[in-house]
Amino acid sequence: MPQAGSEGGRKILELKAVDLVRDGRQVLSGISWTVRSGENWVVLGRNGSGKSSLLEIVAGYLWATSGTVEVLGEIYGRTDLSFHRRKFGWVAPWILKRFRPWERVSDAIAAGTEALVEPGREPSRAVLAAARKQLSFLGCLELENRLCGSLSTGELMKVALARARVASPRLLILDEPFASLDMGARFDLYRILKKIAAARGGPCILMVTHHLEEIRPFFTHALLLRKGRIFAAGPRRKVLKPGTLKKIFDLDVAPSRSKS
Ligand SMILES: Nc1ncnc2c1ncn2[C@@H]1O[C@H](COP(=O)(O)OP(=O)(O)OP(=O)(O)O)[C@@H](O)[C@H]1O
Ligand SMILES: [Mg+2]
Repeated sequence: MPQAGSEGGRKILELKAVDLVRDGRQVLSGISWTVRSGENWVVLGRNGSGKSSLLEIVAGYLWATSGTVEVLGEIYGRTDLSFHRRKFGWVAPWILKRFRPWERVSDAIAAGTEALVEPGREPSRAVLAAARKQLSFLGCLELENRLCGSLSTGELMKVALARARVASPRLLILDEPFASLDMGARFDLYRILKKIAAARGGPCILMVTHHLEEIRPFFTHALLLRKGRIFAAGPRRKVLKPGTLKKIFDLDVAPSRSKS
């Protein structure tokens, strides 16, 4: 198979022949994937096909059993990951459980700038200002002084996004960010992601989803996983075809025609 996503702008990430074996189980096989600036990717596949594992490899939380992983110019195995990870933001539903209920929203967001806040110190005014800026960008400045434990799931998801963005990441990794959001909160999040995607100098977005209606037009590319292998990858128009989706999900499904 040709290298997935091999045309276009500056390289954001490049995986070459990546395999992942966990507890003797082959989770990912032969993944070669390139993402370039100006692209936003959606990752699709059945439960257990390896989507989260793939993104965890990109984020350096899982280590490829073989193959090479290069993200934002750093080759894994030759770089300080704890520092490198500050260049990207990560949002997944499980992250919502990591927010301490007694923590003020602005402090929780400020903690996303670990590069700027020394452990055990109060966030500086500059960091708190950066947190406010994010809340304002996401249209929820009114949450600033609330306690995390008092927020709804949708509100907490916005706080998670603000936290992921506060250090101006170059890569934003979203693993099923819409899970457990109601219809209103989903539309809110669509709007926010569209704004992030349109912002000048904004991050490249990688998103795992199970729902075709969540693949808005700003997602330029799609990667389809099947049993830990790339089934199809590239520009969305070429990949998100009913025939391909039928083969992956064993269903008659049509890609979304949404214009925003
Ligand atoms: N620690 C582990 N040991 C063995 N197998 C594992 C381990 N963690 C995950 N797996 C397996 O790896 C496969 C891929 O898991 P992963 O979470 O990446 O799938 P996914 O595509 O994100 O699924 P979902 O849509 O359900 O979130 C699954 O079959 C899972 O059972
Ligand atoms: Mg998953």
